[in-house]
Amino acid sequence: MRIIRCKDYDDMSRKTANIISAQVILKPNAKLGLATGTTPIGAYKQLIAWYNKGDVDFSEVSTYNLDEYLGLGPDDPQSYRYFMNDTFFNHINIDKAKTHVPDGSNLDAEAACAAYDELMAAAGPLDLQLLGIGRNGHVGFNEPGDSFSKGTHCVELAESTIQANSRLFDSIDDVPRKAYSMGVQNIMSAKTILIAASGADKAQAVYDMIYGPVSPQCTASILQLHADCFVVADEAALSLCK
Ligand code: GLP
Repeated sequence: MRIIRCKDYDDMSRKTANIISAQVILKPNAKLGLATGTTPIGAYKQLIAWYNKGDVDFSEVSTYNLDEYLGLGPDDPQSYRYFMNDTFFNHINIDKAKTHVPDGSNLDAEAACAAYDELMAAAGPLDLQLLGIGRNGHVGFNEPGDSFSKGTHCVELAESTIQANSRLFDSIDDVPRKAYSMGVQNIMSAKTILIAASGADKAQAVYDMIYGPVSPQCTASILQLHADCFVVADEAALSLCK
């Protein structure tokens, strides 16, 4: 793992955006794995600014998002598809047909997950997978458990994740209890992985990811086994990593 230490959230966002734009400049038809959450918002904003200046072109890029809440369709403002359109895709010249998010409106979990895995298998390995990290060390929605999941699967969200994500909903009762998520095998198949983290509330998860045993109790720890993984994190998130 290579650790890129950043001063603060803005610095982390710029460095994350720099790596993503370098990937797209080097390979205009790059396949990007993308993440939702608060962490990548600054990087998406930076990429939009560079796109507006003419510095980066997304016309040939295709994207594959990590996860989606079960039961939320693309027009639901709480869905991750809506988030991606609203935060990023609507502001750049990406072809929406080349952007992919698991289909939360398909309540047939087996079919929805199989369809996403087939899509990813047909695409081949992603060039760059962007990840955030949950306070409990989850990546995508791969919650702590007894084993690592492989392909896209339906997840029962951990109580701590429901709590953490409730800040984005009107009430905790509105947070979906289930989600579709890429599995660890999908994520580890990417050629390069960039995991971004910001804030003191991520410090323990970041420490466990970098120094802890490789264990499904901290899903992000599996990234220690990836040959080309960057951790882009600010001082607060790295505060336990001296
Ligand atoms: C969510 C998402 C993850 C995200 C993580 C951290 O539950 N499923 O993909 O990385 O939690 O979110 P945030 O960046 O808002 O802290």
